[in-house]
Amino acid sequence: MSRSAVLAGLGAMVPERVVDNDEIARTIDTDDAWIRTRTGISRRHWVAPGTATGDLATVAGRRALESAGVDSVDLVILATSTPNQPMPATAPEVATRLGMAGVPGYDLSAACAGFVYGLHAAAGSIVAGLSERVLVIGADIWSTRLDPADRATAIIFGDGAGAAVLRAGTADEPGALVGFDLGSDGANRDLAVLPAGGSRQRSRREPLREEDNYLAMRGKEIFTHAVDRMAGSSEALMDSIGWSSEDVDWFVGHQANVRILHTVADVMNVPREQVVVHLDKVGNTSAASIPLALTDAAAEGRLAPGQRVLLTAFGGGLSWGSAALSWPDIKVAGIESP
Ligand code: COA
Repeated sequence: MSRSAVLAGLGAMVPERVVDNDEIARTIDTDDAWIRTRTGISRRHWVAPGTATGDLATVAGRRALESAGVDSVDLVILATSTPNQPMPATAPEVATRLGMAGVPGYDLSAACAGFVYGLHAAAGSIVAGLSERVLVIGADIWSTRLDPADRATAIIFGDGAGAAVLRAGTADEPGALVGFDLGSDGANRDLAVLPAGGSRQRSRREPLREEDNYLAMRGKEIFTHAVDRMAGSSEALMDSIGWSSEDVDWFVGHQANVRILHTVADVMNVPREQVVVHLDKVGNTSAASIPLALTDAAAEGRLAPGQRVLLTAFGGGLSWGSAALSWPDIKVAGIESP
């Protein structure tokens, strides 16, 4: 049997502070009923002042290592668009805090598709024989980059981190990652953007505008692209590995809006009961969204060994990606705050 990357451990966390829709509605012109109906979100978790993405990533990474029963890996990939600072990367700090000083680590920036991109990079490294074990973390803190006056972003985003350990194994084992489909579209990069701090903005030498510090998202257009790309990518992957819609036991899509998830499932012909929905409790946690949803479903015992799981993510860039795996027999703890 051919060498393959196998899911060996999973862990995730959200910060302690819960922000419900009523709290959002105290500062923004919105209400609980609108947010629930239009997005499916009831609450999210936001960090306390002073907390950085690396702090969340370290907790999730530790939980994934514990779930896998290992204390080190050969490579750490941290998918994030909100690193501790623009330079240096946050992954080396996380690796060191996890007791792995000296292990290579890098940040990967693919917005809400970052975790699936990370799985792809990790699996490639394992299949090529360059690594035996890789820790992939998706972590983001968007709460500190939300425009207090923007109804589209303030209602959606939450903070969190999720992580997976992949190990070398074979394609017939439960847990094997059996295929990927990734894509990007730079022509639509302006649909979700945070301009401040990059080389383009810095080289203009103009005073920073307040709004450049915030995430700007054209919600309606992003919605349409998300549906098209997530459905297209899922179908391309299923075609390439010979899965039909009946082969999918669980569809775990990027958790931004329940209407997007249901529309994609309808296009794929996967029953809505087989869609993992976790956004009601945590909102859109960007690169952490898929590992958080997986961890929650696994900890609740909804994912059974051998079941076939399709992951699909979409985000700014535009970037999107899908991964297919069979579910492994692993122990996964819940996502409660540390
Ligand atoms: N509360 C109350 N009313 C709101 C509102 C809010 N938070 N946001 C918008 N509205 C109003 C609008 O003013 C508009 O009113 P009008 O019809 O009188 O003009 C109406 O609701 C519809 O606005 P629209 O922007 O079309 O809402 P929507 O249904 O597209 O929902 C999002 C907005 C942001 C929830 C939705 O577009 C979305 O989820 N987009 C995708 C986000 C995503 O996937 N992000 C991840 C990748 S970065």
